[in-house]
Amino acid sequence: MLKFALFLLHFLFFTISSSSTIIPLPSTLRASARNQSWSSPDSSFSLSFVQITQSSFILAITYNAGNVIVWSVSNNGTGDSVAVDSGGTFSLLPNGALRLINGSGSIVWDSATTNRGVSHASIDDSGNFQLLNNDGFPLWSSFENPTDTLIPSQNFTVGKILRSGSYSLSLDRPGNLNLKWNDTVEYWSLGFNSSINGNLSSPRFMLRSNGILVGLDPSFPSGMINMAFSTDYGEGNDVFRFLRMDADGNLRIYSASGNSGAGNVTPTWAAVTDQCRVFGFCGDMGICSYRDSNPICGCPSRNFEPIDVNDGRKGCKRKVELEDCPGDVSMLQLEHTAFLTYLPEVSEQTFIVGIVACRSNCLQSGSCIASTLVADGSGFCYMKTPGFVSGYQGEVLPSTSFVKVCGQAVLNTPLYQDTSEKDNDLRLQVVVVVVIVLATLLALVAVVTGFWCWFYRGSEKSGHISAKYELVDYASGAPVKFSYKELQQSTKGFSEKLGEGGFGAVYKGTLPNRMVVAVKQLEGIEQGEKQFRMEVATISSTHHLNLVRLVGFCSEGRHRLLVYEFLRNSSLDKFLFTPNESLNWENRFNVALGTARGLTYLHEECRDCIIHCDIKPENILLDEVHTAKVSDFGLAKLMNPKDQRYLSLASIGGTRGYLAPEWLANLPITSKCDVYSYGMVLLEIVSGTRNFEVSRETDGKKFSLWAYSEFEKGNVEAIVDKRLAEVNSEQVVRAILVSFWCIQEQPSQRPMMGKVVQMLEGVIDIERPPAPKPVTEVTSGGTTMTLDGNVSAISTYATSTTAPSSSPSL
Ligand SMILES: *[C@@H]1O[C@H](CO)[C@@H](O)[C@H](O)[C@H]1NC(C)=O
Ligand SMILES: *[C@@H]1O[C@H](CO)[C@@H](O)[C@H](O)[C@H]1NC(C)=O
Ligand SMILES: *[C@@H]1O[C@H](CO)[C@@H](O)[C@H](O)[C@H]1NC(C)=O
Ligand SMILES: *[C@@H]1O[C@H](CO)[C@@H](O)[C@H](O)[C@H]1NC(C)=O
Ligand SMILES: *[C@@H]1O[C@H](CO)[C@@H](O)[C@H](O)[C@H]1NC(C)=O
Ligand SMILES: *[C@@H]1O[C@H](CO)[C@@H](O)[C@H](O)[C@H]1NC(C)=O
Ligand SMILES: *[C@@H]1O[C@H](CO)[C@@H](O)[C@H](O)[C@H]1NC(C)=O
Repeated sequence: MLKFALFLLHFLFFTISSSSTIIPLPSTLRASARNQSWSSPDSSFSLSFVQITQSSFILAITYNAGNVIVWSVSNNGTGDSVAVDSGGTFSLLPNGALRLINGSGSIVWDSATTNRGVSHASIDDSGNFQLLNNDGFPLWSSFENPTDTLIPSQNFTVGKILRSGSYSLSLDRPGNLNLKWNDTVEYWSLGFNSSINGNLSSPRFMLRSNGILVGLDPSFPSGMINMAFSTDYGEGNDVFRFLRMDADGNLRIYSASGNSGAGNVTPTWAAVTDQCRVFGFCGDMGICSYRDSNPICGCPSRNFEPIDVNDGRKGCKRKVELEDCPGDVSMLQLEHTAFLTYLPEVSEQTFIVGIVACRSNCLQSGSCIASTLVADGSGFCYMKTPGFVSGYQGEVLPSTSFVKVCGQAVLNTPLYQDTSEKDNDLRLQVVVVVVIVLATLLALVAVVTGFWCWFYRGSEKSGHISAKYELVDYASGAPVKFSYKELQQSTKGFSEKLGEGGFGAVYKGTLPNRMVVAVKQLEGIEQGEKQFRMEVATISSTHHLNLVRLVGFCSEGRHRLLVYEFLRNSSLDKFLFTPNESLNWENRFNVALGTARGLTYLHEECRDCIIHCDIKPENILLDEVHTAKVSDFGLAKLMNPKDQRYLSLASIGGTRGYLAPEWLANLPITSKCDVYSYGMVLLEIVSGTRNFEVSRETDGKKFSLWAYSEFEKGNVEAIVDKRLAEVNSEQVVRAILVSFWCIQEQPSQRPMMGKVVQMLEGVIDIERPPAPKPVTEVTSGGTTMTLDGNVSAISTYATSTTAPSSSPSL
């Protein structure tokens, strides 16, 4: 009976997952009949002609009634879509060939499936268009022949290429995703440095529908190589995400929201955060710089002129070529300018010389056309030979570059103006505000403490359950041991999923005593039962109002589960980052204080000090009265007692943006890591904005850095969540100051959590914090793990997610 049910389930699942529209042989779409299309059963994807200009059409698969083109018939070599006139047709012929035919009758594209047994075509709900034989085996598919876009559930494997103009994305055997210019210069890479162990068996990348770009290979137990996250990952049910190789050389994840096709499409992740570091973005001899945080292209000096005055990206050329200029060549000196030097490039030589030699060596060398001295301490001087020179100019670049020009070098008008002005009044303002806050907070603390005392009393009243579950009493400390079968029953076969954390999925369950619990199915635990029990004992020995309570556990065979109290109000991120959910200021401030108290307890008051390692809004749960409860503590150690990093990397989902710089730099982990993450969360509590979000409103900076500069200007209002109708401005300033102290780059400068509580409560003074440094900001999932599970080579990505790690670049 059970077997039959399972079979039925399997059958159902199978048929649902392969739901597709069948297109019989022969079938034809005509460019002239604009509304002809082949659509997936749920109509989310359709294959049809799309009008590009008055008289040209491309054949494309679009998402949501033409909203997003996810595939098109393209030129195999260049990646450009192939256009036909209004007489064009797209035909599936009786012999199995699929052809795009121009009005004149010429075949402009062919699937190369003639007489190979194609019996029909299909398009399914995932957007895959396939040519299949009688056995249902695909002979050709759009998923296997991508153009410039990758959509959820589509595999990107070795040999596949996403292409856009001179730029391409490919995957190599060691498991790295690479962005290349002209198939040669690699200017960005994301992946697993497995060169030590050589090639992986079958690496692939896939964009999950929740917005995570993940690398997979069967040779890894967890299956995961690496990942990147869209800023809205996990959010929204009707958000369609796709990865596109854009014509500007950047690789982006886009989110298209709205269910009717009218939704807007926004980029939510970019591989190269600094667009000017995309090789060749401004063409040969073009110089990229920023104006109002937009990249613009220009020429090095008036010795040059743009190749196309209407399109700076085409590059520049000398007004007088060097060949026509014997004996009159000089070196144009460009301050704050670098010529991008991504290493596998051949058209350059490297020397360790000073600035004078970097200039004169190039001048004297017949083959050198330009040179760059990277003033990063390495003393590298790169000499460029003719080929392609891609420049980047920016106030903060320490590099100096030289370019050979004919005759006298003429500079453009001042390249950058110094706009740094300081507001002298600010210090005084801050001091005044701080004093006011202090007084107010003292009063507030009395109220809050009173409230909590009352709450504590209230929560102890419950407790009338069967013998076994009496152990679960708040004070007992002994966790209940469940059998796997018991948990299976109480969760109805793990049917009601509450969420998916870094450590595994969480399911809702009801114990026989009707207590509602959250059951966490741990994944990737390597420990034996004895060790597991010891860690469980440590976790369950924690008792604090602001920590989620561990009710019990299960350790049976390879099953490792933890049973927690169930909290009805979900996690803090829901309240902070979803538009129509919000907490008022009083609740937010209490959540901030509660979280700080929970962490203080973990760090300073527990018998065995616990470093959380993964503080983020997702791990702060709220109960009915919005009391903060920190969850997932102790799990880092549980997963890997020797190296807590490994674990957090596995759960890097929400961790991104909250990780302390020393964590990323592979330095020792202390409780100050949690302080950093807490500071990030605290700022988000005030602002309702993800700190790692970069937007136009924040002048293209990370929110946290922008917030600091706004704060410096006295513009506190700009930082505070717009949804908050009323705030206690003293508390707000206090919270902001504390957050800036917590996110200091130097761990020693960050306060202990106990002091954080005191500062928030207002019992001690808060000094003015120094600026958090931008260099510590990590903006993409650009992290790398070595095979033994340690984190390495992160610093190269941490300081710049753009430069490939093999390159000293700028
Ligand atoms: C296309 O749409 C128009 C009106 O929108 C309709 O008159 C015409 O019959 C349609 N043609 C096809 C082939 O469906
Ligand atoms: C595209 O080009 C590759 C090699 O450049 C070739 O192997 C492949 O068969 C081509 N595909 C089609 C459909 O022409
Ligand atoms: C299709 O035909 C038009 C003229 O009818 C021509 O301009 C265009 O280049 C052709 N397209 C291809 C891909 O051959
Ligand atoms: C992607 O690759 C995996 C592993 O090879 C495979 O199981 C899965 O069916 C593939 N998905 C598609 C849509 O081809
Ligand atoms: C692109 O690469 C090819 C061969 O790898 C080379 O011949 C060509 O000159 C390169 N293009 C540019 C603009 O450098
Ligand atoms: C990895 O594979 C490439 C070809 O796919 C081969 O040239 C190379 O030698 C392999 N490396 C190792 C370490 O096996
Ligand atoms: C990868 O490992 C090799 C060998 O240990 C090393 O030479 C190379 O620099 C590493 N690359 C990165 C990106 O860490």
